[in-house]
Amino acid sequence: MCGIVGYAGHRPAVDVVVGGLKRLEYRGYDSAGIAVVADGALDVRKKAGKLANLQAMLEADPMKDASTGMGHTRWATHGGPTDVNAHPHVSSRGRVAVIHNGIIENFAELTAELAEQGVVMTSETDTEVVAHLLESTLEQAGDLAEAMRLACQRLSGAFTLVAIDAQDPDRLVAARRNSPLVVGIGDGEHFLASDVSAFIDYTRDAIELGQDQVVDLRADGVVVTDFRGQPVEVTPFTVTWDAAAAEKGGYDLFMLKEIAEQPKAVADTLLGRIAPDGLLRLDEIRIPVAELREVDKIVIVACGTAYHAGMVAKYAIEHWCRIPCEVELASEFRYRDPILTRRILVIAISQSGETMDTLMAVRHAREQGARVLAICNTNGSTIPRESDAVLYTQAGPEIAVASTKAFLTQIVAVYLVALYLAQVRGNKFGDEVAAIVRQLADMPHKVDLVLDTLEGVRALAEQFAEAQSVLFIGRHVGYPVALEGALKLKELAYMHAEGFAAGELKHGPIALIEEGIPVIVVVPPPLGRGVLHEKIISNIQEVRARGAVTIVIAEEGDEVVTPYADHLIRVPACPTLMQPLVSTVPLQVFACALATAKGHDVDQPRNLAKSVTVE
Ligand code: AGP
Repeated sequence: MCGIVGYAGHRPAVDVVVGGLKRLEYRGYDSAGIAVVADGALDVRKKAGKLANLQAMLEADPMKDASTGMGHTRWATHGGPTDVNAHPHVSSRGRVAVIHNGIIENFAELTAELAEQGVVMTSETDTEVVAHLLESTLEQAGDLAEAMRLACQRLSGAFTLVAIDAQDPDRLVAARRNSPLVVGIGDGEHFLASDVSAFIDYTRDAIELGQDQVVDLRADGVVVTDFRGQPVEVTPFTVTWDAAAAEKGGYDLFMLKEIAEQPKAVADTLLGRIAPDGLLRLDEIRIPVAELREVDKIVIVACGTAYHAGMVAKYAIEHWCRIPCEVELASEFRYRDPILTRRILVIAISQSGETMDTLMAVRHAREQGARVLAICNTNGSTIPRESDAVLYTQAGPEIAVASTKAFLTQIVAVYLVALYLAQVRGNKFGDEVAAIVRQLADMPHKVDLVLDTLEGVRALAEQFAEAQSVLFIGRHVGYPVALEGALKLKELAYMHAEGFAAGELKHGPIALIEEGIPVIVVVPPPLGRGVLHEKIISNIQEVRARGAVTIVIAEEGDEVVTPYADHLIRVPACPTLMQPLVSTVPLQVFACALATAKGHDVDQPRNLAKSVTVE
């Protein structure tokens, strides 16, 4: 996700800001920019690509001296990774520059309002509206801090903003809603950053800005208020992490950080896509509704974890849309001479957007005349660029090779597509769509609840460090979750692990069951498809009777499973199709804990790459 750095003090601001942005490079980004005030005017430089591109620009044409400035590394969400879309964004009369981390959910309304005032947008971003809003508010408010407070009262979504005013050169004003922002407290200097790693070389004394707070920052002090201007108590803290740990937000591993980010990733993937009436607003899917109504089959192509997300989504697509849905391994897809027509919608799921197997499947599908919709986490990557349309997951950069938050957001994104199809094709009434959207909106909280219970999972995992093999079984949407749990264990703990549809056990795999073999069971909600619950209880009894050690993932309150579980992992009760969003999390932690116990490099497992750009 985006990186933010601000500085006011006695050092050259450009050096401090660029150095801070370098510290934040691990967050993943696709453009960078910086702004200072010099000689009464804004000096803004920004460049697509890596920070080195911006540094080369500054070496060729140095910025003017300034002791106050701000910088940004952008992870593109609205608008591709271009020079124009890079931050900072400048207001129409050139007085205010702003940088932003998050998603302005109501930027379309604000853009229309500003257009009526004659303001013309120069970029494709949601952020730019804030620069214009601040400038128009500034004249009424009198100073930048009050202008920021008034502007924030107009915004909805997730936003951390930092702004500077050409007519007030020694001041930075920032606001925080949802996306983190910390203030570094120095001696005669102060810092702002997305995380402490950006200023840890200068000071370890910091303040974390709270929700809906504004900080007015100068070299000699900071003032923190709420959005209404009321002063708020701040709690200083001392950073004990080293810079490397700070990049992981204090977690030992990027994977643990990304597991913890899942509630926010799911919430962000929903942001801006639900209209006030509870229906879906997916204008970004640039396939005409009339064409979506013609779709008579959906084929999902993906690899690895993304493939498992597609398998989960298949159950929802067929249940909600009544459209036949196939899920294909991208590496197999084009070699089976698939029958593709203009009425077939191919959905390509890819976190990186660069997986060659998936890209080749996309190219084949388009050559055959099918429409392709990409579900991707990396703005401007190859697969979205070569697709007819794209719906981005908003998980933020996923650094660990083992995919976690991308998986949950891929499920959510394909669910949004499925619900949107049901909505525009009339398979579901508006109230039915709104009811399911409410279930989705409740999932970040439920995932958060799971995160609070994971110590027990870690302790449990370590008991199985010597296991020769671990089996995973599930039914319905629990079946792809079982496959995903097995994949995590393979790629992290380098252990043999296999996932099965529980109903398949009796057709062969049950021969694998022997004394002491761990079998992890993903139990469907009792009130879902009731018959499934009864059947999986039978499956647990079958494996237990043959000596298996059963590790059962079941929802709170499901006591039917208790007698058959050697170990019980509870997840919050959810609607059947939502359960993968909570039942997957313990499996991620189980694999991560086992790999850690084995001393493996969890973030960079052997033989694996984050993006497989070869076939
Ligand atoms: C999952 O943990 C692995 N990193 C891998 O299976 C991955 O999901 C697969 O390579 C697909 O990558 P993509 O989503 O970037 O296309």
